[in-house]
Amino acid sequence: MKPMNVGLLGLGTVGAGTFTVLSRNAEEIFRRAGRPIRIVVVAEKDVARANEITQGACRVVDDAFSVVSDAEVDIVIELIGGCGVAKELVLKAIANGKHVITANKALLAMHGNEIFAEAQKQGVTVAFEAAVAGGVPIVKAVREGLSANRIEWIAGIINGTTNFILSEMRDKGLSFDTVLKEAQRLGYAEADPTFDIEGVDAAHKITILSAIAFGIPVQFDKVYIEGISQLNAKDIKYAEQLGYRIKLLGITKRTTAGAELRVHPTLIPAKRLIANVEGAMNAVVVQGDAVGATLYYGKGAGAEPTASAVIADLVDVTRMHTADPEHRVPHLAFQPDQLVDLPILPIAEVLTCHYMRLRVQDEPGVLANITRVLADEQISIDALIQIEPGEGEDEADLILLTHLTREKRINLAIVKLEKLSVVVGKVTRIRMETLG
Ligand code: HSE
Repeated sequence: MKPMNVGLLGLGTVGAGTFTVLSRNAEEIFRRAGRPIRIVVVAEKDVARANEITQGACRVVDDAFSVVSDAEVDIVIELIGGCGVAKELVLKAIANGKHVITANKALLAMHGNEIFAEAQKQGVTVAFEAAVAGGVPIVKAVREGLSANRIEWIAGIINGTTNFILSEMRDKGLSFDTVLKEAQRLGYAEADPTFDIEGVDAAHKITILSAIAFGIPVQFDKVYIEGISQLNAKDIKYAEQLGYRIKLLGITKRTTAGAELRVHPTLIPAKRLIANVEGAMNAVVVQGDAVGATLYYGKGAGAEPTASAVIADLVDVTRMHTADPEHRVPHLAFQPDQLVDLPILPIAEVLTCHYMRLRVQDEPGVLANITRVLADEQISIDALIQIEPGEGEDEADLILLTHLTREKRINLAIVKLEKLSVVVGKVTRIRMETLG
């Protein structure tokens, strides 16, 4: 049977991993796909490096545009990243009738609607398992494995860099800045770590998950994003004392008013399995109405884990290559004409519990003043703990946990609390989820 011919754009870490795994497991992959899958051409700026990796097994070129127009190529794997040339290449490949496999979360979160519409028009597939949580087959699980369910919510640790930093901060009691430097030294964090630590990478991924969970367009511009760079080691310690862990979660939830779509540090009960996901690992909990909660765990980055997802897409695309486009799995899990316009709720309308830390003067009447502000905003307190002041200190940390409260109420309360003369400095607020 004619092999499926692949053109690979970008031979960096994941590209090289894809090349290696595809060669090493060629026989097993053939048994699964029903025909050989072979990389016939690689586009890579560093041609010498590419030649060293490919060892003459395929052509090496430095012009990626020649690959997307190459008549021999059936499937293009895009591993260049970003929304510039990668977008042009993906659209060109689709226009030329080629299936596309991509690990590019930014591209799909920002331009997915246009890209999927073009693919639909051309009768080709754009597959993207590697774009969310690397080697964890979460796209497949949500899109196919859970297709009987009405998905209620998804919450995930979908950025390994930040999970590594948070784990180290908790384990060693170190500050964010110290651990970030260590993470950069170990190669976990990039030289410019902004996308990871400020939650943008996780926001790209949760945007994609919300679309396939609820059958809505990708809407990256509506995600509320808060990273971990402002997180204080003190809060990690206090959270732990209260039986919680702080994780950077991507959360998307269906409510009667619309969908929530947010990324922020979150207190979760330490007894939850996902709270115990440590280091650079990823994990995603999906709550379906029929199945209940399911948990997916694994490596969210790295050469071979990500290659595992890319090659799973290669097998899928190969198997359905001869099927009618209408009989393939839809890009966003729901038939394209069945996508709905569920509004994305602004963060002010989101209902969650909150952790608040206030630095207060340790004197009579302080608690009365604080609880009055909360009562005025109809915020119900679940727990209130004063941390014993240190030797000779006349200020103390006060920790407050609230019941479910709409975010705008908390915001108003924080403004009022910060105006009280007994409250010193800023109030720290971290959202909480029970994930129950
Ligand atoms: N930089 C990401 C992470 C991996 O730290 O999880 C690629 O999305």
